[in-house]
Amino acid sequence: MAILHQKSLQTSYQRQRLTSKAPTRSRQRLVVRAGILEPGATVLVAGATGGVGQLVSAKLIERGFKVKAIARPRSAKALEGYGPNLQVVQADLKDPTAIGSLFGDIEAIVCATGTTAFPSDRWNGDNGPRPTDWEANANLINIAAGAMKASGGDLARFLLVTSAGVERQKELPWAILNLFGVLKYKRDAEELLMKSGLPWTIIRPSRLTDGPYTSFDLNTLLQATAGSRQDVTLSLSDSLAGEASRIAVAEAVVQALTCSQSENKAFALSSKEGEGPGTDETKWKTLFANAQLY
Ligand SMILES: NC(=O)c1ccc[n+]([C@@H]2O[C@H](COP(=O)([O-])OP(=O)(O)OC[C@H]3O[C@@H](n4cnc5c(N)ncnc54)[C@H](OP(=O)(O)O)[C@@H]3O)[C@@H](O)[C@H]2O)c1
Repeated sequence: MAILHQKSLQTSYQRQRLTSKAPTRSRQRLVVRAGILEPGATVLVAGATGGVGQLVSAKLIERGFKVKAIARPRSAKALEGYGPNLQVVQADLKDPTAIGSLFGDIEAIVCATGTTAFPSDRWNGDNGPRPTDWEANANLINIAAGAMKASGGDLARFLLVTSAGVERQKELPWAILNLFGVLKYKRDAEELLMKSGLPWTIIRPSRLTDGPYTSFDLNTLLQATAGSRQDVTLSLSDSLAGEASRIAVAEAVVQALTCSQSENKAFALSSKEGEGPGTDETKWKTLFANAQLY
């Protein structure tokens, strides 16, 4: 699939704003204060039917945010039952013409899309690492950047979930994981986001544990726990290994959207034994602020 370039995207977004409901300045002031998202804001979640994306959506709704969930037609049904604060919009991110119209009334974007690193049924229909981790993500980033320029800087944050190992593609065991390019394409998307002019945060989890859940019930998702491994390590360098609970990753995503200490930074995230920050905003702010290059 082609990647739509920023110039043509701006034109299409400007056209779209003329014909659809665009966010007003007064609404923006209510839900975004000093660049930080406040409850009531709408977050566009790509990958909302996935393991991390489901948890992010459930947590956002629980905290008073609205979610515009991007789902492909084949999986959109999975998001039924989340209540009135989740709106499902059907789109495949590989098709730029399908996502140009998603940017009215949103204040932030979370992208937690992905596919398998090695050949599997999920690659069928042009859904391997390149189309998923590069082409689809590049479409979303380019369109968001065009939208922000056209609207004078409305977006509070673009948060991208990538992976541990993106900067260690030639080292073992990452070189094996990268045999079909998953880390290369994720890194390319990171670099595009960093240069996009959008306010960004990147979360790079280690090997994911907990979920994906087969129950899509909001309350069940919110009751999931990471057992005794609830503590997290954050690093500003791609230096972590081990595992990361999807619950901790989703919490980090939601917390990062609502604090300035996470802006324009990439955090590697691993889970470890211990109580951890839970949902405590102050503890997460401290974790983001104190993350080091080690
Ligand atoms: N698995 C690991 O150990 C591991 C480790 C580190 C990082 N990660 C990364 O962490 C992130 C979250 O992982 P996860 O396991 O929670 O994800 P997941 O369950 O594999 O979900 C992936 C999501 O991406 C969506 N998606 C893929 N291609 C799309 C497209 N072209 N258009 C629209 N939506 C698309 C899928 O939609 P459908 O439901 O329609 O398929 C699904 O909602 C991913 O980026 C993953 O690569 C994973």
